[in-house]
Amino acid sequence: MNIDWQNLTFGYTRTDYNVRCYFRDGKWGELEITSDEYIPIHIAATCLHYGQESFEGMKAYLGKDEKIRLFRWQENARRMKRSAEGIKLAVVPEELFHKAIVKAVQLNKKFIPPYGTGSSLYVRPLLLGTGAEVGVKPANEYMFMVFVTPVGPYFKTGFKPGDMMICRDFDRAAPLGTGHIKVGGNYAASLLSLEKGHDKGFASVIYLDAKEKKYIDECGPANFFGIKGDTYITPDSHTILPSITNLSLQEIAREMGMKVEKRPVPLEEIGDFDEVGACGTAAVISPIRKIVDLENMITYEYCKDGNPGPVSTKLYNRLTAIQYGDEPDPFGWIEFVD
Ligand code: PLP
Ligand code: COI
Repeated sequence: MNIDWQNLTFGYTRTDYNVRCYFRDGKWGELEITSDEYIPIHIAATCLHYGQESFEGMKAYLGKDEKIRLFRWQENARRMKRSAEGIKLAVVPEELFHKAIVKAVQLNKKFIPPYGTGSSLYVRPLLLGTGAEVGVKPANEYMFMVFVTPVGPYFKTGFKPGDMMICRDFDRAAPLGTGHIKVGGNYAASLLSLEKGHDKGFASVIYLDAKEKKYIDECGPANFFGIKGDTYITPDSHTILPSITNLSLQEIAREMGMKVEKRPVPLEEIGDFDEVGACGTAAVISPIRKIVDLENMITYEYCKDGNPGPVSTKLYNRLTAIQYGDEPDPFGWIEFVD
């Protein structure tokens, strides 16, 4: 094993084991452990043809005390349940979800990045419709699996300000579609617009509400937040994924004595923000330096000295201090893994 922990990016590194469980005849079987990185799958599986699949993303952190910490996994389990209900997948019971993530982390302990490297072990639960159907209907068999992989920052700049572009010619989700749950189709729908943004030199694109194109939705695979004075503001919309990181930052903002507003955020308002950022498990907080609205030839600029803003920095430090165990966790967000 030869991993350059300091320079990890957000990519796949092979680990020793993954865990799997199969839903057949109306019930979940026993958890199985394997070293195989491949899945034998029926050619007519519904996940392949009709996108009947959902995934999750969370992280395990190694503290200075060498203890392994999981962050708010219950929220991921609940979100996967909502995703399953939304596209008619078999629901993974919370106990099975927990058992599988803990097992996958325990079996791959040596891949958890050491404390101080700023990296962590990404945990990826995946739920697939594996039963064969040719008509458009839910499968009668499912596979739930969890793999883990050590990762560094999602956006190349990490906790350094990056640039984003307003996206008007694509939507990642329809107004009454599946944007609020974590299903593969949303990500497929975002690939072309993200690539166009990357080609123009942007870290990501900012989607607007799909109906009116008046409000901010989210930033590629992360939520959006803005800071105005002592208020933390984040969009309320049916087409964005309810981010567990965003939820946590709202609670930390309140703890810091700030006000929190979750409401529609009109595009024009972003000019009034002191700081803006993207947040998510993979992104943590990625401060935004510039938002460029190419069609209207407007550039909104933040972090003029090149550094993340003071409030984003405080939020980032508090969140990561809880995740790595540097500060106590008054919220009850951490669970230790033996
Ligand atoms: N928005 C989208 C579209 C995402 O894929 C993610 C990542 O899961 C997020 C937001 C952030 O959510 P969380 O903080 O729960 O990781
Ligand atoms: C996450 O933040 O966990 C994500 O899933 C984002 C992306 C890698 C899809």
